[in-house]
Amino acid sequence: MNQQEANVIAVLIRGLYLNAAEGPWAVAGSPPEDGDERPWSSPLPQEALQIDLSQAISKGELNEEPAARILSEAFSAWVFDRAPAGVEAAKQDNRTEKLPSCVGIRNQDRVERVYWIDRDVDAARKRRAGKNAVCLEGKMAPGCPPAGAEPSLPPGMSASGRAGVVRGRIALVTGGAQGFGGEIVRGLAASGALVFIADLNLEGAQKMAGAVNAAGKRTAAIPVAVNVADEASVEAMFNTVAETAGGLDLCVSNAGILRAGSVLEQDLAEFKLVTDINYTGFFIIAKHAARLLRRQHRTAAAWKTDIIQINSKSGLEGSNKNGAYAGGKFGGIGLAASFALELVEYNIKVNAICPGNFFDGPLWSDPEQGLFVQYLKAGKVPKARTLADVKAFYEAKVPMKRGCAGADVMRAIYYLVEQEYETGQALPVTGGQVMLH
Ligand SMILES: NC(=O)c1ccc[n+]([C@@H]2O[C@H](COP(=O)([O-])OP(=O)(O)OC[C@H]3O[C@@H](n4cnc5c(N)ncnc54)[C@H](O)[C@@H]3O)[C@@H](O)[C@H]2O)c1
Repeated sequence: MNQQEANVIAVLIRGLYLNAAEGPWAVAGSPPEDGDERPWSSPLPQEALQIDLSQAISKGELNEEPAARILSEAFSAWVFDRAPAGVEAAKQDNRTEKLPSCVGIRNQDRVERVYWIDRDVDAARKRRAGKNAVCLEGKMAPGCPPAGAEPSLPPGMSASGRAGVVRGRIALVTGGAQGFGGEIVRGLAASGALVFIADLNLEGAQKMAGAVNAAGKRTAAIPVAVNVADEASVEAMFNTVAETAGGLDLCVSNAGILRAGSVLEQDLAEFKLVTDINYTGFFIIAKHAARLLRRQHRTAAAWKTDIIQINSKSGLEGSNKNGAYAGGKFGGIGLAASFALELVEYNIKVNAICPGNFFDGPLWSDPEQGLFVQYLKAGKVPKARTLADVKAFYEAKVPMKRGCAGADVMRAIYYLVEQEYETGQALPVTGGQVMLH
């Protein structure tokens, strides 16, 4: 069994737990001890659930659908054996259920892989390190709060208790090393989620993860390198997610760039660069996120997951001399709506958030490259003498008289995750600057 197949199984296993008990889970796989082709050599702990997947392997390859069926049957039988009144009865009685914390996958006599399961990655890794296979208690009652670390929200990040909807969930944020992406990473982590910070700038992602983990005193963020415009790189990134945590609940496609330019002058290469990252990049991210989420859905049919694109107010109205950006953002809303129609079958919601200008972020406020500096130098704002004059000019255009902040976008994310009856929407967060018609 190769690593790719081991990752497929990790995701199917996570689905079993999402299906059996409320709240998210993490799965830590053990690599084979001595190379890919060799069987697992240590004896499995007695309490482990052992599942023979040989019936799902043909011509040396793992077939996902029969694997999901075999896993579901074996898991249900294990749980049923320890809950003679039945799982449904346990759910109705608001009782806790015993669940295995260690699953060994066999191909006939050979143990190929071992997976350790717990409520978060730290706990799952601890089990793996200590080979602790003592049963888990899975709360079966509907309505029990999702698991995860207690939220410790920074001021302004709370959304009237709604932040709890991401507690314990596994999220991924592209372009999470800075700007809006950085705000989203910090917001999700502070709300108890585990966040993969996926960025072209790996060093920035590592720095951000270090700060977030130190603040949360747990593994709240994991950096991973990606170029969203490169399909192989995106595929590898989602493999890392499956290998590290066993699945995903929320994918935020945030990475984006802006290269303003007149339709009369802009180089085709620059137009293509913007389109590759903002438009095609969203397609690639959504494609591979959806593949992973569909896989998880095979063993967790009722579990709802989200793909959210960070779009822009420029996805709702034209932007002068900025066609590559606005065009890609308009297109992103078309993609989100179309993917939503297709993916609803797998309980995957797809929505876009359209923020107004983030004046305090690096795009506008960077002291050397920021748009305020550029506009001041170019004399774009009549009578403006200072950066503050330029900022005031743009703030005055917003009915609510301020730029969009990370906390505003976080409220929209919490809303979309919590909302079970909406998909394919573009949600403006613009202080009234752009309204839907
Ligand atoms: N800043 C704003 O005013 C504003 C307003 C509305 C919408 N948005 C949208 O918000 C998102 C983030 O914008 P921002 O201004 O915070 O950006 P930013 O430039 O501050 O940060 C973007 C991040 O994306 C990363 N990135 C760039 N190309 C990438 C690629 N190919 N693959 C992976 N990562 C890549 C960068 O390394 C960086 O960390 C974008 O989609 C943007 O269109 C921004």
